Amino acid sequence: MPFYHRLGKIPRKRHTQFRKPTGELYAEQLVSTEGFSDDYSLVYHTHAPTRVKGVDEPYSVAPEVAIEQNLRHRSFRGFAVKPKKDYLESRTCVMFNNDLAILLAAPQESMENYFFKNSGGDEMIFIHEGEGVLKTMYGLLPFRPGDHVIIPRGVIYQLHFNTSANRLLIMESYSPIRYPKRYVSKAGQLLENAPFCERDIRVPEELETHDKKGDFKVMVKRDHMIFPYHFATHPFDLIGWDGYHYPWAFSIHDFEPITGRVHQPPPVHQTFEGRNYVTCAFVPRMYDYHPNSIPAPYNHSNVDSDEVLYYVDGEFMSRKHVERGQLTLHPTGIPHGPHPGTVEKSIGQKETHELAVMIDTFKPLKLTKAAMDIEDEDYYLSWLED
Ligand SMILES: [Fe+2]
Repeated sequence: MPFYHRLGKIPRKRHTQFRKPTGELYAEQLVSTEGFSDDYSLVYHTHAPTRVKGVDEPYSVAPEVAIEQNLRHRSFRGFAVKPKKDYLESRTCVMFNNDLAILLAAPQESMENYFFKNSGGDEMIFIHEGEGVLKTMYGLLPFRPGDHVIIPRGVIYQLHFNTSANRLLIMESYSPIRYPKRYVSKAGQLLENAPFCERDIRVPEELETHDKKGDFKVMVKRDHMIFPYHFATHPFDLIGWDGYHYPWAFSIHDFEPITGRVHQPPPVHQTFEGRNYVTCAFVPRMYDYHPNSIPAPYNHSNVDSDEVLYYVDGEFMSRKHVERGQLTLHPTGIPHGPHPGTVEKSIGQKETHELAVMIDTFKPLKLTKAAMDIEDEDYYLSWLED
């Protein structure tokens, strides 16, 4: 999605003979979205990617709904999700609707024995803690804390960590994750008014070609089921590719905040959007500089959206008792705002060091049983004067 990219060797003309040194043909594959009507990549495998050896019994990863209809402010201790060795087992859905799911994960180990493919959704993996490399057939994408790693649907991947203490916020989007429309030109270039530009987008730069045959397990997720597939060739056997469909990364630390004399509205913090949602990044920035400005946000009612905020780092001027990894949900239409005392306290302050990721959904979010396990139950009462 970000821009045209190519890596490795490809033939000069598409759909023409492209041979190995042995004289055999490479296997061309078109990886396309919206049928054949949207972004795509043309990839060149060492072996045909179609050689399925078997499919094990699929199993459900459907989130268990605890609260179908929520209209209460809620707060969750994200770091209370217990670390697990395995990545897929660690993925814990806390909220979802028909447009997206929000998951927390604390995997301790790299994916060594299997690969994962989300067939039903694009993924945004926000790296809160941990670092390593995302391995895909499109090449290697190193990641570090603060990265939004965007993995379009259908990309087979492995997460390899250099660390064992890893904390991830994952958004599974059932529509493509895109830049906000107002940030891009007619041709798709990021405009001057956008808080980041193409130089801030990191793409795979190193291709690993695994010319291997054997039994390669790819866990394919569709809707809420995982289908364990076995392929006869290594999924990362590409000699080259080009196109627009590939994983990429954008660091929250590369987001250039837009500030003003008075409080700026939340859309200035926007990073991405999809069907019925937007995402934002709140980053360290100078406060408003009107002589009578109030840096703390005004009370607000998002009359038609559920607002999810994930606290990454720094002190939150408008909230009390915020901890890293905390996740708050302020549902549609119920007013919320600064905690008592924080408005006066914010006056005269020059800057904030807050770091947070926001996901606003335009349809109600359901809450899972896993979310209830880590809830701070009295949060909705926290605006009462103390
Ligand atoms: Fe808000």
